[in-house]
Amino acid sequence: MIQGGLFDEPSSLAPSPEEDLQRYKTLSELYEATKNCKKCRLGETRKNYVFGEGNEKAKLVLVGEAPGAEEDEQGLPFVGRSGQLLNNILAAVKFQRSEVYICNVIKSRPPNNRNPEPDEIAACAPYLYRQLEIIRPKVILALGRVAANALLNNNQSMQAMRGKPHKWRNIDVIVTYHPAALLRNPNWKRLCWEDVQLMRRIYDEKCAND
Ligand code: URA
Repeated sequence: MIQGGLFDEPSSLAPSPEEDLQRYKTLSELYEATKNCKKCRLGETRKNYVFGEGNEKAKLVLVGEAPGAEEDEQGLPFVGRSGQLLNNILAAVKFQRSEVYICNVIKSRPPNNRNPEPDEIAACAPYLYRQLEIIRPKVILALGRVAANALLNNNQSMQAMRGKPHKWRNIDVIVTYHPAALLRNPNWKRLCWEDVQLMRRIYDEKCAND
């Protein structure tokens, strides 16, 4: 019979997965430590782990839901049709993609683009939280309900969340529609335009003295 060693930590003292991630101080350390993750079933089916892309010192972070087919192929977030629209949304409020950081709640593609399951979100969200702790942006733009619910730790609808600032820890969070939803419902683009203008105003206020 295999017995625990004399100096094994009692399980109540073992670090929680989130505390464990504190030891990774840069995005590249966190990426190296998590890129082969198999904590959930998506680790078996993905082609590429889609960690995130952009400026480690970004003051604006965009958080989407999960990689799609094109993102899974390339290992980069928002490079398909939704990504094209996202680039246009950013340009409309005078951001270049290179000055922001873009990532998703889930780092591996759900098969057939199905919605992520709650246990997949629970497994992957600590990676997102650690990314945000490392980057320490001034503003987070949550793209769609999955991202907003994961950041705000609620189950609210888009209507309830958009149009006003929220907080993740001490950081302002603005919620808007996911670009894929805008491709399906172009009449929501007007609301997204209002949301990203609000995001730009808050960003300018928070960054005025930087
Ligand atoms: N949809 C997302 O939520 N994220 C991506 O990276 C691509 C599409």
